Amino acid sequence: VVVVLDFGSQYTHLITRRVRQLGVCSVCLPGTVPLPTITSYAPSLVILSGGPHSVHEPGSPSLPPSFFEYTATHQITVLGICYGLQLIVKVLGGHVKPAVSQEYGRMDVLPLSGSRLFGDGPLCTRLSVWMSHGDEAVKLPDGFSIACKSLQGGIAAIENPSLGIYGLQFHPEVTHTARGTEILKQILFNVSEITADWKLQDVLQEQLEIIKSTIGPSEHAICALSGGVDSTVAATMVHKAIGDRLHCVFVDNGLLRFKERERVMSTFETDLHLPVTCVDASEKFLGKLKGVTDPEEKRKIIGREFINAFDEFSIEVEEKYGSRPSFLVQGTLYPDVIESCPPPGTGKGHSHTIKSHHNVGGLPKEMQLKLVEPLRWLFKDEVRKLGELLNVPQGFLKRHPFPGPGLAVRILGDVTQGDALETVRQVDEIFINSLREAGLYDSIWQAFAVFLPVKTVGVQGDRRSHSNAVALRAITSEDGMTADWYQFDSKFLAEVSAKICNSVRSVNRIVYDITSKPPATVEWE
Ligand code: XMP
Repeated sequence: VVVVLDFGSQYTHLITRRVRQLGVCSVCLPGTVPLPTITSYAPSLVILSGGPHSVHEPGSPSLPPSFFEYTATHQITVLGICYGLQLIVKVLGGHVKPAVSQEYGRMDVLPLSGSRLFGDGPLCTRLSVWMSHGDEAVKLPDGFSIACKSLQGGIAAIENPSLGIYGLQFHPEVTHTARGTEILKQILFNVSEITADWKLQDVLQEQLEIIKSTIGPSEHAICALSGGVDSTVAATMVHKAIGDRLHCVFVDNGLLRFKERERVMSTFETDLHLPVTCVDASEKFLGKLKGVTDPEEKRKIIGREFINAFDEFSIEVEEKYGSRPSFLVQGTLYPDVIESCPPPGTGKGHSHTIKSHHNVGGLPKEMQLKLVEPLRWLFKDEVRKLGELLNVPQGFLKRHPFPGPGLAVRILGDVTQGDALETVRQVDEIFINSLREAGLYDSIWQAFAVFLPVKTVGVQGDRRSHSNAVALRAITSEDGMTADWYQFDSKFLAEVSAKICNSVRSVNRIVYDITSKPPATVEWE
């Protein structure tokens, strides 16, 4: 196992993912964990991440006492990246000071020949790397040598092969570092001599066993399916483990896309054979939303209605099977679990907080369900691969994300105004189909239409029209936290615009959203 200690870098998750992508099991722990937590994983390599702190700041995060005694005694390799390197230098008696010129962005570095870290092979050449640091090591601890220098002569990597301690001042995990993956491979397989034996198939088998031993032979579990990848893969896994003692509910809240209900129910039933009850709660949701224009109020109403629908379903299951469901299956992912930890340097330890913004919007306390979260160890791309192993159709796994509050956050103002729902559904369908026809759907992270509560003047069929304006949005993103708007060629936009205005009578104007996140968010509400 490779343990990554998180000192607050925005790239920490990426280190864990890269290591897993190279076939090695990796976990990410807060940088503040005590030594026994680290040792419980029996790591072969501990990676100390970067972070926003300076090792000189009072209270900046550090390593637990006796850390290096433990790694030396057990012959565990240590790799510090950026802040991690500076921590190694400071803790072992070297000197770190604020850099004369801070280094941010792409730089060229030169490994020194004969280093253990870069070897004598293809990595021992001028490398283009990504730097992001304000401090620099100026005096190395005893026994350490420089393994790589920047072209300005700064220390770019250090090593002490006899203690198995290494440090990189740059980030091998980001794609901007040209040969980052090769550097990580060198560290994992040559320096640390780790074997690549981590396979998702094994994770699947292991999780199935855990689910079987957690949910007793007469116990029942429930799961709210949103139509998204995470809840679907989680439910499919649990269904494989406990069969029809899993009861799924799909709530039609009246805010779904064109034929969404039919499409997802068909996948659930025909392709995945999941036991799903479809609850039509659209009248209830839309009734409560009538006249409501405030975005937050809309979200709160939807959250409450989801809970009500879920509560009723749970009672139904109890009445039907004479046994109260005792488990709730959720598709919580690893980033949600890591993000719920307090950031390093706050003096607070690791705490397990349940994801708070899942699609059912919170759970009634009296339900007292125990959580089953088979994906809480995995990243999104790994969940997609797991979905493939479970025969979830490819088309389903590649679907764009869709928010829990559905079209309510894509109709500005009152959701029930005029034919807003019908209009946005039709426009969205034409837009998405056009993306598929142009072979663009999979290169875009998310695309959709937004109904604007604005009427504009147009000429349609030689007549003056006074109809709705609709916005189209398409973005690229890694995780939805930041996003760039997608740059279509103008021919594509012109064709889509014409198609929409020709076939959706209530629309006479299309605008394309050219805002990134930040400053905008992905959804309009
Ligand atoms: P924003 O609009 O916050 O969206 O930039 C980022 C990503 O999250 C999705 N989103 C939601 N997903 N419940 C969800 O399950 C929500 O309440 C919610 N709000 C936004 C959004 O579609 C995008 O993928």
